[in-house]
Amino acid sequence: MNFYILTLFPEMVEQTFHTSIMKRAAENDLISLEAVNIRDFSENKHMKVDDYPYGGGAGMVMQPGPVYSAYESIKEKAKGARVVYMTPQGKVFNQKMAEELAQEENLIFLCGHYEGIDERVLEEIVTDEVSIGDYVLTGGELPALVMMDAIGRLVPGVLNNDVSAEIESFHDNLLEYPQYTRPVTWHEKEVPSVLLSGHHGNVEKWRREKSIERTLAKRPDLLKDANLDKKEQQYLAKLKEANK
Ligand code: ADE
Repeated sequence: MNFYILTLFPEMVEQTFHTSIMKRAAENDLISLEAVNIRDFSENKHMKVDDYPYGGGAGMVMQPGPVYSAYESIKEKAKGARVVYMTPQGKVFNQKMAEELAQEENLIFLCGHYEGIDERVLEEIVTDEVSIGDYVLTGGELPALVMMDAIGRLVPGVLNNDVSAEIESFHDNLLEYPQYTRPVTWHEKEVPSVLLSGHHGNVEKWRREKSIERTLAKRPDLLKDANLDKKEQQYLAKLKEANK
């Protein structure tokens, strides 16, 4: 997976990205990041890339020329890549979108600043508009980093343990079950005994039940799309009955 990011703050993106798991994944050539500084494509001797909005109003707007030239500088390398524009007006990012985008070979993220980017260049290059939530940030860099983290960890080999990306929260639309490690007793609280039993089948059953309980308690909206077998559906019905 090759990420390209068009930004006014390449150092911020590179430093944050090259930390921890993504750093190791980049060293192992599983993912790469190329940050393109839009300012390098300024058409102005002061290296400005923004100007006042036509029609008036507060703030500045990023000019189309530098954004387009930054895009053109990588367009051949990132052949056929979708161009994801980070904006609070976009479709709200979720795990399903991360899974879909993780299938791509190349992805380009476009980060705006100030009051936004001239609409004409967006019309020409953007294929997807994505928001990371219903709040407004000062720029698209943090949202792009959030997306690259969520997508990057789904690339095969990036996580040490291949199964963990699948079993965790949101797999089957259920939240993750609680986890415990040593010591067995901590602050007078015991690790649930089933986890010490060594009985794999019972452990699995307990974990599925805990996932269902948690999802019902914390995110009942997810349950309508959860993949439950007959027994699990009965278990859920019982929980709902007990909560009445
Ligand atoms: N840019 C500013 N706010 C944003 C958000 N919530 N999501 C994506 N891009 C943004």
